Amino acid sequence: MSDVAAKSTHPERVFSGVQPSGNLHLGNYLGAVREFVRLQEKHECLYCVVDLHAITVWQDPKALTQSIRELTAAFLACGLDAKRSIIFNQSQVSAHAELGWIFNCVARLGWLNRMTQFKEKAGKDKEAASIALYDYPVLQAADILAYKATHVPVGEDQKQHLELSRDIAQKFNNDFKVPDFFPQPEPLIRDDAARVMSLRDGSKKMSKSDPSDQSRINLTDDADAIAKKIRKAKTDPEPLPDTLKALEHRPEARNLVGIYAALADITSEQVLQEHAGAQFGAFKPALADLCVEKIAPIAGEMRRWLEDIPAIDAVLADGAERAHAIASPILRDTYEVVGLLRTRAIS
Ligand code: TYM
Repeated sequence: MSDVAAKSTHPERVFSGVQPSGNLHLGNYLGAVREFVRLQEKHECLYCVVDLHAITVWQDPKALTQSIRELTAAFLACGLDAKRSIIFNQSQVSAHAELGWIFNCVARLGWLNRMTQFKEKAGKDKEAASIALYDYPVLQAADILAYKATHVPVGEDQKQHLELSRDIAQKFNNDFKVPDFFPQPEPLIRDDAARVMSLRDGSKKMSKSDPSDQSRINLTDDADAIAKKIRKAKTDPEPLPDTLKALEHRPEARNLVGIYAALADITSEQVLQEHAGAQFGAFKPALADLCVEKIAPIAGEMRRWLEDIPAIDAVLADGAERAHAIASPILRDTYEVVGLLRTRAIS
Protein backbone atom coordinates (compact mmCIF):
# COMPACT_ATOMS: atom_id res chain seq x y z
CA MET A 1 0.00 0.00 0.00
CA SER A 2 2.68 2.54 0.92
CA ASP A 3 4.27 2.56 -2.60
CA VAL A 4 1.12 4.10 -4.00
CA ALA A 5 0.73 6.61 -1.20
CA ALA A 6 4.33 7.73 -1.65
CA LYS A 7 3.41 9.01 -5.13
CA SER A 8 0.44 10.99 -3.86
CA THR A 9 0.23 13.91 -1.51
CA HIS A 10 -2.85 12.42 0.09
CA PRO A 11 -2.56 10.56 3.36
CA GLU A 12 -3.54 6.88 3.19
CA ARG A 13 -7.20 6.41 3.96
CA VAL A 14 -9.27 3.29 3.33
CA PHE A 15 -12.95 3.38 2.33
CA SER A 16 -15.30 0.62 1.29
CA GLY A 17 -19.02 0.00 1.15
CA VAL A 18 -21.41 -2.93 1.20
CA GLN A 19 -25.09 -2.90 0.25
CA PRO A 20 -27.64 -3.81 2.92
CA SER A 21 -29.70 -6.04 0.68
CA GLY A 22 -29.96 -9.54 2.10
CA ASN A 23 -27.42 -11.69 3.87
CA LEU A 24 -23.70 -11.40 3.45
CA HIS A 25 -22.22 -14.50 1.83
CA LEU A 26 -18.83 -16.13 1.63
CA GLY A 27 -17.93 -14.08 -1.48
CA ASN A 28 -18.54 -10.79 0.35
CA TYR A 29 -16.57 -12.10 3.31
CA LEU A 30 -13.50 -13.42 1.49
CA GLY A 31 -13.52 -10.78 -1.25
CA ALA A 32 -14.11 -7.78 0.99
CA VAL A 33 -15.03 -7.88 4.68
CA ARG A 34 -12.14 -10.07 5.85
CA GLU A 35 -9.82 -7.61 4.16
CA PHE A 36 -11.58 -4.71 5.91
CA VAL A 37 -10.74 -6.35 9.23
CA ARG A 38 -7.08 -6.78 8.31
CA LEU A 39 -6.72 -3.21 7.07
CA GLN A 40 -8.08 -1.65 10.26
CA GLU A 41 -4.98 -2.89 12.12
CA LYS A 42 -2.73 -0.34 10.45
CA HIS A 43 -4.87 2.21 8.58
CA GLU A 44 -7.55 4.79 9.03
CA CYS A 45 -10.64 3.01 7.69
CA LEU A 46 -14.24 3.93 6.92
CA TYR A 47 -16.72 1.14 6.28
CA CYS A 48 -20.09 2.16 4.99
CA VAL A 49 -23.46 0.43 4.86
CA VAL A 50 -24.53 1.90 1.51
CA ASP A 51 -28.26 2.21 2.06
CA LEU A 52 -28.69 4.89 -0.64
CA HIS A 53 -27.23 2.45 -3.13
CA ALA A 54 -29.61 -0.27 -1.93
CA ILE A 55 -32.70 1.82 -2.79
CA THR A 56 -31.71 2.05 -6.46
CA VAL A 57 -33.89 -1.07 -6.65
CA TRP A 58 -37.12 -1.47 -4.66
CA GLN A 59 -36.64 -2.16 -0.95
CA ASP A 60 -39.44 -2.74 1.50
CA PRO A 61 -38.90 0.08 4.05
CA LYS A 62 -39.21 -2.07 7.20
CA ALA A 63 -36.99 -4.79 5.76
CA LEU A 64 -34.43 -2.17 4.71
CA THR A 65 -34.13 -0.79 8.26
CA GLN A 66 -33.64 -4.35 9.51
CA SER A 67 -31.05 -5.08 6.78
CA ILE A 68 -29.03 -1.97 7.70
CA ARG A 69 -28.79 -3.20 11.30
CA GLU A 70 -28.08 -6.78 10.21
CA LEU A 71 -25.21 -5.72 7.98
CA THR A 72 -23.78 -3.60 10.78
CA ALA A 73 -24.04 -6.63 13.08
CA ALA A 74 -22.29 -8.73 10.43
CA PHE A 75 -19.46 -6.19 10.15
CA LEU A 76 -18.98 -6.31 13.92
CA ALA A 77 -19.32 -10.09 14.09
CA CYS A 78 -16.63 -10.47 11.41
CA GLY A 79 -14.22 -8.51 13.59
CA LEU A 80 -14.57 -4.86 12.65
CA ASP A 81 -13.84 -2.74 15.68
CA ALA A 82 -16.06 0.33 15.95
CA LYS A 83 -13.39 2.21 17.88
CA ARG A 84 -10.70 1.70 15.28
CA SER A 85 -12.82 1.83 12.16
CA ILE A 86 -15.57 4.27 11.32
CA ILE A 87 -18.70 2.19 10.73
CA PHE A 88 -21.78 4.07 9.51
CA ASN A 89 -24.66 4.10 7.11
CA GLN A 90 -24.43 6.29 4.05
CA SER A 91 -27.75 8.14 4.33
CA GLN A 92 -26.74 9.66 7.68
CA VAL A 93 -23.90 11.62 6.07
CA SER A 94 -25.36 13.99 3.50
CA ALA A 95 -21.95 14.65 1.88
CA HIS A 96 -22.41 11.45 -0.17
CA ALA A 97 -25.56 12.70 -1.88
CA GLU A 98 -24.26 16.27 -2.21
CA LEU A 99 -20.93 15.31 -3.77
CA GLY A 100 -22.80 12.76 -5.87
CA TRP A 101 -24.73 15.61 -7.50
CA ILE A 102 -21.56 17.56 -8.27
CA PHE A 103 -20.04 14.42 -9.78
CA ASN A 104 -23.17 13.97 -11.91
CA CYS A 105 -22.11 17.21 -13.55
CA VAL A 106 -18.56 15.89 -14.10
CA ALA A 107 -19.21 12.30 -15.25
CA ARG A 108 -20.09 11.76 -18.91
CA LEU A 109 -23.02 9.79 -20.24
CA GLY A 110 -20.67 7.79 -22.44
CA TRP A 111 -18.72 6.62 -19.40
CA LEU A 112 -21.85 5.34 -17.69
CA ASN A 113 -23.04 3.67 -20.89
CA ARG A 114 -20.04 1.36 -20.61
CA MET A 115 -20.82 0.11 -17.08
CA THR A 116 -21.43 -3.63 -17.32
CA GLN A 117 -23.11 -3.95 -13.93
CA PHE A 118 -25.97 -1.68 -14.98
CA LYS A 119 -26.56 -3.91 -17.98
CA GLU A 120 -26.61 -7.01 -15.75
CA LYS A 121 -28.79 -5.46 -13.06
CA ALA A 122 -31.27 -3.72 -15.34
CA GLY A 123 -31.81 -6.91 -17.35
CA LYS A 124 -33.87 -6.80 -20.53
CA ASP A 125 -36.22 -4.00 -19.55
CA LYS A 126 -33.80 -1.07 -19.22
CA GLU A 127 -36.58 1.50 -19.68
CA ALA A 128 -38.10 0.34 -16.40
CA ALA A 129 -34.88 0.66 -14.37
CA SER A 130 -34.58 3.59 -11.97
CA ILE A 131 -32.39 6.52 -13.00
CA ALA A 132 -30.46 5.94 -9.78
CA LEU A 133 -29.52 2.40 -10.84
CA TYR A 134 -27.88 3.89 -13.92
CA ASP A 135 -26.23 6.64 -11.89
CA TYR A 136 -25.12 4.23 -9.15
CA PRO A 137 -21.36 4.31 -9.93
CA VAL A 138 -21.29 8.12 -9.67
CA LEU A 139 -22.60 7.94 -6.11
CA GLN A 140 -19.96 5.27 -5.48
CA ALA A 141 -17.27 7.73 -6.61
CA ALA A 142 -18.72 10.31 -4.21
CA ASP A 143 -18.64 7.77 -1.35
CA ILE A 144 -14.92 7.32 -1.81
CA LEU A 145 -13.90 10.86 -2.68
CA ALA A 146 -15.99 12.56 0.03
CA TYR A 147 -13.19 11.30 2.28
CA LYS A 148 -10.38 11.65 -0.28
CA ALA A 149 -9.87 7.92 0.32
CA THR A 150 -6.78 6.49 -1.36
CA HIS A 151 -7.47 2.74 -1.09
CA VAL A 152 -10.63 0.74 -1.65
CA PRO A 153 -10.76 -2.97 -0.74
CA VAL A 154 -13.28 -4.68 -3.04
CA GLY A 155 -13.97 -7.85 -5.00
CA GLU A 156 -13.18 -7.98 -8.69
CA ASP A 157 -16.73 -7.08 -9.75
CA GLN A 158 -16.14 -3.52 -8.50
CA LYS A 159 -13.05 -2.90 -10.61
CA GLN A 160 -14.89 -1.03 -13.36
CA HIS A 161 -16.66 1.21 -10.85
CA LEU A 162 -13.29 2.07 -9.31
CA GLU A 163 -11.94 3.00 -12.73
CA LEU A 164 -14.88 5.36 -13.14
CA SER A 165 -14.12 6.92 -9.72
CA ARG A 166 -10.58 7.57 -10.90
CA ASP A 167 -11.84 9.12 -14.14
CA ILE A 168 -14.23 11.39 -12.24
CA ALA A 169 -11.48 12.47 -9.81
CA GLN A 170 -9.15 13.24 -12.68
CA LYS A 171 -11.71 15.15 -14.75
CA PHE A 172 -12.73 17.22 -11.73
CA ASN A 173 -9.08 18.07 -11.00
CA ASN A 174 -8.48 18.98 -14.66
CA ASP A 175 -11.71 20.90 -15.28
CA PHE A 176 -11.27 23.10 -12.22
CA LYS A 177 -7.47 23.28 -12.53
CA VAL A 178 -6.90 21.89 -9.04
CA PRO A 179 -4.25 19.23 -9.64
CA ASP A 180 -4.32 16.52 -6.98
CA PHE A 181 -7.43 17.95 -5.25
CA PHE A 182 -9.01 14.50 -5.32
CA PRO A 183 -6.71 11.46 -5.12
CA GLN A 184 -6.83 8.59 -7.63
CA PRO A 185 -8.28 5.84 -5.43
CA GLU A 186 -6.62 2.44 -5.81
CA PRO A 187 -8.65 -0.76 -5.66
CA LEU A 188 -7.24 -3.40 -3.30
CA ILE A 189 -8.26 -6.72 -4.81
CA ARG A 190 -6.99 -9.97 -3.38
CA ASP A 191 -6.08 -12.51 -6.04
CA ASP A 192 -7.21 -15.62 -4.22
CA ALA A 193 -10.74 -14.47 -3.34
CA ALA A 194 -11.42 -11.74 -5.86
CA ARG A 195 -14.27 -13.69 -7.38
CA VAL A 196 -15.87 -16.48 -5.37
CA MET A 197 -18.19 -18.40 -7.67
CA SER A 198 -21.60 -20.03 -7.14
CA LEU A 199 -21.53 -23.53 -5.61
CA ARG A 200 -24.06 -24.64 -8.24
CA ASP A 201 -22.44 -23.14 -11.33
CA GLY A 202 -18.74 -22.30 -11.53
CA SER A 203 -19.32 -19.78 -14.31
CA LYS A 204 -21.54 -17.50 -12.17
CA LYS A 205 -20.37 -15.36 -9.29
CA MET A 206 -21.65 -16.18 -5.80
CA SER A 207 -24.40 -13.61 -5.30
CA LYS A 208 -27.11 -12.47 -2.90
CA SER A 209 -29.55 -12.33 -5.78
CA ASP A 210 -29.14 -15.95 -6.96
CA PRO A 211 -32.55 -17.57 -6.42
CA SER A 212 -30.91 -20.79 -5.17
CA ASP A 213 -29.77 -20.61 -1.53
CA GLN A 214 -27.65 -23.71 -2.27
CA SER A 215 -25.46 -21.55 -4.53
CA ARG A 216 -23.97 -19.60 -1.62
CA ILE A 217 -22.81 -19.92 1.96
CA ASN A 218 -24.46 -17.21 4.02
CA LEU A 219 -22.71 -15.81 7.05
CA THR A 220 -25.90 -16.67 8.96
CA ASP A 221 -25.71 -20.38 8.03
CA ASP A 222 -25.09 -22.82 10.87
CA ALA A 223 -22.48 -25.59 10.80
CA ASP A 224 -24.90 -28.20 9.38
CA ALA A 225 -26.07 -25.93 6.58
CA ILE A 226 -22.51 -25.02 5.63
CA ALA A 227 -21.36 -28.68 5.55
CA LYS A 228 -24.43 -29.71 3.54
CA LYS A 229 -23.97 -26.99 0.93
CA ILE A 230 -20.33 -27.95 0.42
CA ARG A 231 -21.20 -31.65 0.22
CA LYS A 232 -23.76 -30.84 -2.49
CA ALA A 233 -21.57 -28.34 -4.37
CA LYS A 234 -21.27 -29.10 -8.08
CA THR A 235 -17.96 -30.76 -9.04
CA ASP A 236 -16.59 -33.03 -11.75
CA PRO A 237 -15.53 -36.69 -11.57
CA GLU A 238 -11.76 -36.07 -11.88
CA PRO A 239 -9.37 -36.09 -8.93
CA LEU A 240 -7.56 -32.85 -8.03
CA PRO A 241 -4.51 -32.22 -10.23
CA ASP A 242 -1.12 -30.98 -9.06
CA THR A 243 -1.04 -27.75 -11.09
CA LEU A 244 -3.36 -24.74 -11.32
CA LYS A 245 -3.12 -24.83 -15.11
CA ALA A 246 -4.87 -28.21 -15.11
CA LEU A 247 -7.87 -26.52 -13.40
CA GLU A 248 -8.32 -24.01 -16.19
CA HIS A 249 -11.34 -25.75 -17.70
CA ARG A 250 -12.74 -27.04 -14.44
CA PRO A 251 -14.48 -23.93 -13.00
CA GLU A 252 -16.24 -25.71 -10.12
CA ALA A 253 -13.09 -27.52 -8.98
CA ARG A 254 -11.09 -24.32 -9.30
CA ASN A 255 -13.63 -22.43 -7.21
CA LEU A 256 -13.54 -24.96 -4.35
CA VAL A 257 -9.73 -24.95 -4.37
CA GLY A 258 -9.79 -21.13 -4.33
CA ILE A 259 -12.23 -21.06 -1.40
CA TYR A 260 -10.05 -23.54 0.51
CA ALA A 261 -6.97 -21.43 -0.17
CA ALA A 262 -8.63 -18.19 0.93
CA LEU A 263 -10.03 -19.74 4.12
CA ALA A 264 -6.70 -21.39 5.03
CA ASP A 265 -4.77 -18.27 4.02
CA ILE A 266 -2.52 -20.16 1.63
CA THR A 267 -2.23 -20.13 -2.15
CA SER A 268 -4.24 -22.36 -4.49
CA GLU A 269 -0.92 -23.96 -5.53
CA GLN A 270 -0.29 -24.93 -1.93
CA VAL A 271 -3.77 -26.47 -1.68
CA LEU A 272 -3.01 -28.56 -4.76
CA GLN A 273 0.36 -29.63 -3.36
CA GLU A 274 -1.45 -30.93 -0.27
CA HIS A 275 -4.46 -32.47 -2.02
CA ALA A 276 -3.25 -33.55 -5.49
CA GLY A 277 -4.78 -36.89 -6.43
CA ALA A 278 -7.66 -36.55 -3.94
CA GLN A 279 -11.21 -37.22 -5.12
CA PHE A 280 -13.90 -34.73 -4.14
CA GLY A 281 -15.25 -37.38 -1.76
CA ALA A 282 -12.17 -36.67 0.35
CA PHE A 283 -11.57 -32.99 -0.44
CA LYS A 284 -15.10 -31.77 0.28
CA PRO A 285 -15.17 -32.93 3.94
CA ALA A 286 -11.81 -31.20 4.52
CA LEU A 287 -13.19 -28.02 2.94
CA ALA A 288 -16.43 -28.31 4.93
CA ASP A 289 -14.50 -28.62 8.22
CA LEU A 290 -12.39 -25.59 7.40
CA CYS A 291 -15.39 -23.52 6.34
CA VAL A 292 -17.37 -24.46 9.46
CA GLU A 293 -14.39 -23.58 11.65
CA LYS A 294 -13.97 -20.12 10.08
CA ILE A 295 -17.54 -19.14 9.22
CA ALA A 296 -19.97 -20.79 11.66
CA PRO A 297 -18.89 -18.69 14.71
CA ILE A 298 -19.83 -15.48 12.84
CA ALA A 299 -23.56 -16.34 12.93
CA GLY A 300 -23.56 -16.70 16.73
CA GLU A 301 -21.72 -13.43 17.17
CA MET A 302 -24.15 -11.70 14.80
CA ARG A 303 -27.13 -12.98 16.79
CA ARG A 304 -25.54 -11.65 19.96
CA TRP A 305 -25.24 -8.17 18.43
CA LEU A 306 -28.78 -8.27 17.08
CA GLU A 307 -30.13 -8.85 20.59
CA ASP A 308 -28.87 -5.35 21.41
CA ILE A 309 -30.28 -2.99 18.77
CA PRO A 310 -29.44 0.17 20.79
CA ALA A 311 -25.77 -0.90 20.74
CA ILE A 312 -25.86 -1.29 16.94
CA ASP A 313 -27.58 2.08 16.54
CA ALA A 314 -24.97 3.69 18.82
CA VAL A 315 -22.17 2.33 16.60
CA LEU A 316 -23.86 3.85 13.53
CA ALA A 317 -24.51 7.18 15.25
CA ASP A 318 -20.92 7.51 16.41
CA GLY A 319 -19.60 6.42 13.00
CA ALA A 320 -21.80 8.96 11.20
CA GLU A 321 -20.51 11.78 13.42
CA ARG A 322 -16.90 10.83 12.76
CA ALA A 323 -17.49 10.37 9.03
CA HIS A 324 -19.27 13.74 8.82
CA ALA A 325 -16.33 15.43 10.57
CA ILE A 326 -13.97 14.20 7.81
CA ALA A 327 -16.28 14.78 4.84
CA SER A 328 -17.61 18.19 5.81
CA PRO A 329 -14.45 20.29 5.19
CA ILE A 330 -13.76 18.34 1.97
CA LEU A 331 -17.26 19.15 0.74
CA ARG A 332 -16.86 22.80 1.74
CA ASP A 333 -13.61 23.02 -0.27
CA THR A 334 -15.30 21.29 -3.20
CA TYR A 335 -18.13 23.85 -3.26
CA GLU A 336 -15.56 26.61 -3.20
CA VAL A 337 -13.60 25.10 -6.09
CA VAL A 338 -16.82 24.82 -8.12
CA GLY A 339 -17.76 28.42 -7.28
CA LEU A 340 -20.96 27.71 -5.40
CA LEU A 341 -21.61 30.59 -3.03
CA ARG A 342 -21.96 29.61 0.65
CA THR A 343 -23.18 32.41 2.92
CA ARG A 344 -24.76 30.32 5.69
CA ALA A 345 -22.54 28.91 8.42
CA ILE A 346 -22.61 25.11 8.29
CA SER A 347 -20.95 22.51 10.47
P1 TYM B 1 -21.81 -5.41 -2.82
O1 TYM B 1 -22.68 -5.03 -1.67
O2 TYM B 1 -22.45 -6.08 -3.99
O3 TYM B 1 -20.63 -6.35 -2.33
C1 TYM B 1 -19.81 -6.01 -1.23
C2 TYM B 1 -18.38 -6.44 -1.50
O4 TYM B 1 -18.32 -7.86 -1.71
C3 TYM B 1 -17.60 -8.13 -2.92
N1 TYM B 1 -18.18 -9.35 -3.53
C4 TYM B 1 -17.45 -10.42 -3.87
N2 TYM B 1 -16.13 -10.70 -3.77
C5 TYM B 1 -15.72 -11.91 -4.21
N3 TYM B 1 -16.56 -12.85 -4.74
C6 TYM B 1 -17.89 -12.61 -4.86
N4 TYM B 1 -18.71 -13.55 -5.36
C7 TYM B 1 -18.38 -11.35 -4.41
N5 TYM B 1 -19.64 -10.79 -4.38
C8 TYM B 1 -19.48 -9.56 -3.83
C9 TYM B 1 -17.85 -6.90 -3.78
O5 TYM B 1 -16.86 -6.77 -4.79
C10 TYM B 1 -17.79 -5.78 -2.76
O6 TYM B 1 -16.45 -5.40 -2.50
N6 TYM B 1 -21.05 -1.17 -5.35
C11 TYM B 1 -20.67 -1.90 -4.16
C12 TYM B 1 -20.89 -1.14 -2.87
C13 TYM B 1 -20.27 0.23 -2.80
C14 TYM B 1 -18.89 0.50 -2.66
C15 TYM B 1 -18.81 1.92 -2.57
C16 TYM B 1 -17.74 -0.29 -2.59
C17 TYM B 1 -20.94 1.41 -2.82
N7 TYM B 1 -20.07 2.42 -2.67
C18 TYM B 1 -17.58 2.56 -2.45
C19 TYM B 1 -16.52 0.35 -2.46
C20 TYM B 1 -16.44 1.77 -2.39
C21 TYM B 1 -21.49 -3.17 -4.10
O7 TYM B 1 -22.57 -3.23 -4.62
O8 TYM B 1 -20.96 -4.14 -3.31
